[in-house]
Amino acid sequence: QKYNVAILGATGLVGQNLIEILEQRNFPVGELFPLASSRSAGSTIKFKGQDVEVLNVDEFDWSTAQIGLFSAGGDVSAKYAPVAAEAGCVVIDNTSHFRYEPDIPLVIPEVNPHAVADYRNRNIIANPNCSTIQMLVALKPIHDAYGIDRINVCTYQSVSGAGKSAVDELVGQTAQLMNGRPVESKVFPMQMAFNVIPQIDVFQDNGYTKEEMKMVWETHKILGDESIGVNPTAVRVPVFYGHAEAIHLELRQPVSADDVKNVLEQAPGVTLMPDSTDYPTQVTHGSGQDSTFVGRVREDISHANGINLWVVADNIRKGAATNSIQIAEVLIADYL
Ligand code: A2P
Repeated sequence: QKYNVAILGATGLVGQNLIEILEQRNFPVGELFPLASSRSAGSTIKFKGQDVEVLNVDEFDWSTAQIGLFSAGGDVSAKYAPVAAEAGCVVIDNTSHFRYEPDIPLVIPEVNPHAVADYRNRNIIANPNCSTIQMLVALKPIHDAYGIDRINVCTYQSVSGAGKSAVDELVGQTAQLMNGRPVESKVFPMQMAFNVIPQIDVFQDNGYTKEEMKMVWETHKILGDESIGVNPTAVRVPVFYGHAEAIHLELRQPVSADDVKNVLEQAPGVTLMPDSTDYPTQVTHGSGQDSTFVGRVREDISHANGINLWVVADNIRKGAATNSIQIAEVLIADYL
């Protein structure tokens, strides 16, 4: 059986990866409908060697698609997801717009695949935030084995998480600085090149940013456990692709680094780098692969139940496009 798939935001970074990954994973696509705004309607994208025309989303008949993969921003999802869902198209949404609504499932296929069943509530499934996905792929098996009391995490997030215009801004600023010209910032709140910025998304009343609170809310929802403490600091770094995270866990019992490594060795979606002198980085492991790479697993010298880890993944693939397509694979295997 084949499924007609609409990609909303087909000309964007995540959209282009969605199309590439559908092809790589041999997803049973009947017709592919690349959708964007009137700005790029009429242009073409390549799918399986063929040119496919990009359509204006305003004119699209959603009843012709069974699955819709959305990544054109929260406002666009807010407008079109209910319309698509009403027409019988199951929406898998990459934006944060629906994630925190209690009847919308929020799914990482390695972590809570059973939640896909709740797509029936509204015909919408939400894809989590990129930083949450790679963190929970690594932590779920540790939580199952030993129980996590508290997660302290600092992220080192690449600019591609903010879309194509953010990638272009880092390129532009780097060239401007190299040529001794003044730097212009439009996407980022200040100079991004040769700088790190401890702000992603807007500030909340509690002094955390929304990106940080996404990691808190989404961890609780996906693991179904509000008792886990989550204390994030989310930082943008001048790296193009891949996110890294330094994670400091407080477990419910003392556990050795070797025991944690044994658990991670078996974990779905995880590639463990067990040697303490060998580790993943964004440049070497953060782009073009679907695994979540874990290195530097060690006992915390300052806490009896503490374990430290360093986690790297491709934010555009596992953090967005691949995770969405894995959700679609669960959907067609078990429900459609
Ligand atoms: P368009 O090419 O028409 O602007 P990125 O995250 O890399 O910035 O990409 C954003 C994606 O979302 C693009 O494919 C863009 O299409 C699409 N998009 C942005 N705004 C809209 C809109 N109002 N309606 C439809 N698609 C949109």
